[in-house]
Amino acid sequence: MNSNNTMSESALGGRFTFPRTPFTVQRIGYGAMQLAGPGVFGPPKDREAALAVLREAVATGVNHIDTADFYGPHITNQIIRQALYPYPEDLVIVTKLGAMRPADGSWQSAISPQDLTAAVHDNLRNLDVEALDIVNYRAMGAIHGPAEGSIAEQVTTLAGLQRQGLIRHIGLSNVTATQLAEAQTFADIVCVQNNYNLATRGDDALIDVLARQGIAYVPFSPLAGSTPLQSSTLSAVAERLGSKPMQVALAWLLHRSPNILLIPGTSSVGHLRENLAAANLKLSREDLAELDGIAAKN
Ligand SMILES: NC(=O)c1ccc[n+]([C@@H]2O[C@H](COP(=O)([O-])OP(=O)(O)OC[C@H]3O[C@@H](n4cnc5c(N)ncnc54)[C@H](OP(=O)(O)O)[C@@H]3O)[C@@H](O)[C@H]2O)c1
Repeated sequence: MNSNNTMSESALGGRFTFPRTPFTVQRIGYGAMQLAGPGVFGPPKDREAALAVLREAVATGVNHIDTADFYGPHITNQIIRQALYPYPEDLVIVTKLGAMRPADGSWQSAISPQDLTAAVHDNLRNLDVEALDIVNYRAMGAIHGPAEGSIAEQVTTLAGLQRQGLIRHIGLSNVTATQLAEAQTFADIVCVQNNYNLATRGDDALIDVLARQGIAYVPFSPLAGSTPLQSSTLSAVAERLGSKPMQVALAWLLHRSPNILLIPGTSSVGHLRENLAAANLKLSREDLAELDGIAAKN
């Protein structure tokens, strides 16, 4: 799965190449977490609908899919495989490690070298690939976001799996700037996936640091997750532009920094189409200033 991009330069927000990799993706991709059952546990209500979302995404030019084998668990990766295998040449699948889902549906951390190695093999088996394109180490952190603490053991474990050829490139998720700097002493980090959107902007400084290094910043929950963003300012800007609030929220992220890649999640083809069309939205300086005010009010 290396880059053989046939999309135009400007489609889906234009292109981004992960640093020092052959992987070039359109800036709007797709996050697959919503394809599992309620609470990201068990199978979806409608498997055919889940398959249709993935196929429509790829047919429209999406070549960056975010997943994890602990979604379901296993189910989201199995749906990706069923929908898309054999994978298009240019598709980059990014997965993450660091959690597990016992039978009670709870979220538990799984970060020992043995856990991480087993999770790599789970991803390889369920996606049916020989090597994983990009693997994010997802730190568990605190309830509201990352928490400081060494991630050296986990990153060196991933670097070892990379040397074995099981992982092509390494990223991080739910980390601080200090953890990023620590990780960079053990591995070449190509992307960071943290919680960020119009209303949650704790990573503004980190995004700029990553942009200077050419590293992708991939906001998770770009629409604010299971309770999508609600703001009278966002609705007013969307109405003025003749678009939908969620499209404006995504367009704002595309405008925020050229190293931002989007992975909005949806279980619906209708919402997927809306999200992909956000690339066509041009925001003026005035629109951006108004939208910037949303976080200031929080
Ligand atoms: N690293 C991490 O810790 C982490 C954490 C969370 C998520 N992620 C990744 O990030 C991806 C995105 O995050 P997310 O899925 O949690 O949240 P999100 O993309 O912010 O929002 C998803 C929610 O918005 C709804 N939605 C999507 N498009 C919409 C539209 N056009 N109009 C109205 N509602 C819309 C979806 O419902 P419908 O299904 O009804 O469209 C769903 O409830 C995930 O899929 C996953 O791959 C990573």
